[in-house]
Amino acid sequence: MTTKASAWRRLVTCLSSLKFYLNVLCLVVTGFVLLQLCSFQITQRSLSLPPALLTYLRHRPEQLSENKTASLVEKLRESVTFLPLKDYRFSNKPLEGHTWFMSSLYDNQTKGEAQYQEFPSDSSKGRLLCLKGVDEHDGSWNYYVLAWPEALPTNAILQEGLTFVSYNQYDYGNLWHGLTAAVPFVAWSLRNQCEKPQKWVLYHWGELRFGMGHWLSEIITSIYGQAPDFLQFVDQDKPVCFEKAVVMRHNEGGMSRERRIEVFDLIRCKARNYCNISSSETSKPRIGMTLLLRTGARSFRNESVVIDVFKRECKRVDGCELNVSYSNNLTFCEQVELMKKTDVLVSPHGAQLTNLFLMDKNSSVMEFFPKGWLKLAGVGQLVFQWGANWSGMRHEGSWHDPVGEICQFPYTDRRCMSIYKNAKIGYNETYFGEWARRVLRKFSIREMKELAECNHGNSSLDVCS
Ligand SMILES: *[C@@H]1O[C@H](CO)[C@@H](O)[C@H](O)[C@H]1NC(C)=O
Ligand SMILES: *[C@@H]1O[C@H](CO)[C@@H](O)[C@H](O)[C@H]1NC(C)=O
Ligand SMILES: *[C@@H]1O[C@H](CO)[C@@H](O)[C@H](O)[C@H]1NC(C)=O
Ligand SMILES: *[C@@H]1O[C@H](CO)[C@@H](O)[C@H](O)[C@H]1NC(C)=O
Ligand SMILES: *[C@@H]1O[C@H](CO)[C@@H](O)[C@H](O)[C@H]1NC(C)=O
Ligand SMILES: *[C@@H]1O[C@H](CO)[C@@H](O)[C@H](O)[C@H]1NC(C)=O
Ligand SMILES: *[C@@H]1O[C@H](CO)[C@@H](O)[C@H](O)[C@H]1NC(C)=O
Ligand SMILES: *[C@@H]1O[C@H](CO)[C@@H](O)[C@H](O)[C@H]1NC(C)=O
Ligand SMILES: *[C@@H]1O[C@H](CO)[C@@H](O)[C@H](O)[C@H]1NC(C)=O
Ligand SMILES: *[C@@H]1O[C@H](CO)[C@@H](O)[C@H](O)[C@H]1NC(C)=O
Repeated sequence: MTTKASAWRRLVTCLSSLKFYLNVLCLVVTGFVLLQLCSFQITQRSLSLPPALLTYLRHRPEQLSENKTASLVEKLRESVTFLPLKDYRFSNKPLEGHTWFMSSLYDNQTKGEAQYQEFPSDSSKGRLLCLKGVDEHDGSWNYYVLAWPEALPTNAILQEGLTFVSYNQYDYGNLWHGLTAAVPFVAWSLRNQCEKPQKWVLYHWGELRFGMGHWLSEIITSIYGQAPDFLQFVDQDKPVCFEKAVVMRHNEGGMSRERRIEVFDLIRCKARNYCNISSSETSKPRIGMTLLLRTGARSFRNESVVIDVFKRECKRVDGCELNVSYSNNLTFCEQVELMKKTDVLVSPHGAQLTNLFLMDKNSSVMEFFPKGWLKLAGVGQLVFQWGANWSGMRHEGSWHDPVGEICQFPYTDRRCMSIYKNAKIGYNETYFGEWARRVLRKFSIREMKELAECNHGNSSLDVCS
């Protein structure tokens, strides 16, 4: 019994000591785990990873895509490749289709409208136009490119607002060539809430031009209420990108006659307002006949005879007044005023005739050419017939002098044109007299011309007043 009982007691003691051992073991393990945990944290802290990397590890997915976008934008920026503004591959047809100026781009050809390009636009897929280069002698050393606003080329300067970029095959000094370059911009403004350009960029054959003739500058000032401001490209390596750019490279080509009439109506109206010329008809003769003379090239060889013929014919018509003026000593506003008073404009072929659109509509033009022009001068000699038609005037024909300078080559040889081009113009008293009588008679029979559209009545121009 005692052995049994003692064995039982021993077993209990043993078991309880086992429990004790288990408890101890449990404590030791827990302690060890705790220690391990602590030491792990200590290890981790003592490893001391850069906080940037920790952030990177924590937000790995987004960070990766952000970096990817940044690097793609950078690649896009680096892939912007400028092309020469003037593309010699098209020098045999510089004005056709996409032309040799920005030859990789196509115009928006809306029926009846001037062909134009606008950036950014749907067709540029939101890209801006950027221009680079300062060359005034060779357009292939100036450059263009389209770039997304997020990835403009390195060093680019952003030009805010609207910029008009003009391409002109001729020049901006000649009244006619300058005007035809400006007309499509005016047409564009008419269609776009009369939006004004902040800056102008002018190119001729891709070469930069930093000015225009005084007459054209005055025309533009009268339309937009501010003198044209030409963008200065200062640095060969600093491209300029335009917040908004409109490019014209076909002059008025593509515009319907209605559109042209509308634009010339606007310019006439704006020019008269600018020059403070009242719309009242009181200061105006019933019929104003103006002999607008030139000096030098294509002037009349004997002015007094020509003046006398027209003076005589004008005198025969009741209410006709003749004004003889020289285009070279009239200010812009004097030209505008003179044209307002003119119903029959008599003048040799030349830039001064560009003023014809400033007459009241339905007025008449009589034009004179030296010998040789009819055969040799090409379609260029028709510009004032076009100008008259586009502005609602009547071109009453041209007189071609049958006599003139002697050319050593046969009459129709192109080399003679250099002799005839700036020759003087003779006269035929009989012909001039009959012609003037015919025009004046027609003019008198015609219904009184509509009063000046400007300021009275109702025209689309009011949109821009
Ligand atoms: C993006 O990650 C690349 C490596 O994949 C690295 O070379 C580059 O500097 C990172 N760019 C930025 C902006 O963090
Ligand atoms: C062309 O101009 C018209 C009228 O402004 C416009 O609706 C059209 O989207 C333009 N087309 C392109 C290709 O820019
Ligand atoms: C027209 O009149 C306004 C106001 O009287 C004057 O400021 C402006 O200089 C005039 N313009 C011309 C061209 O004479
Ligand atoms: C112009 O013609 C008239 C008449 O033939 C002549 O008397 C006059 O001398 C001529 N004038 C000039 C400058 O040739
Ligand atoms: C205008 O120019 C013509 C030709 O050069 C000259 O004969 C005339 O005297 C000038 N008139 C004035 C007012 O300067
Ligand atoms: C012709 O018109 C100009 C401009 O309006 C004016 O200055 C000049 O006095 C006029 N000449 C004659 C003879 O009417
Ligand atoms: C202008 O030319 C068109 C044809 O091109 C003709 O129909 C129209 O009558 C002309 N207008 C004038 C005023 O000469
Ligand atoms: C002058 O014009 C008249 C009428 O058109 C013509 O008969 C005559 O032959 C012309 N004279 C000359 C010299 O051309
Ligand atoms: C011009 O003349 C035509 C034909 O005589 C006439 O129908 C038209 O109304 C005139 N236009 C203006 C602006 O005088
Ligand atoms: C101007 O003309 C349009 C249509 O051509 C007409 O709807 C409008 O009422 C006119 N406005 C005035 C002030 O005459």
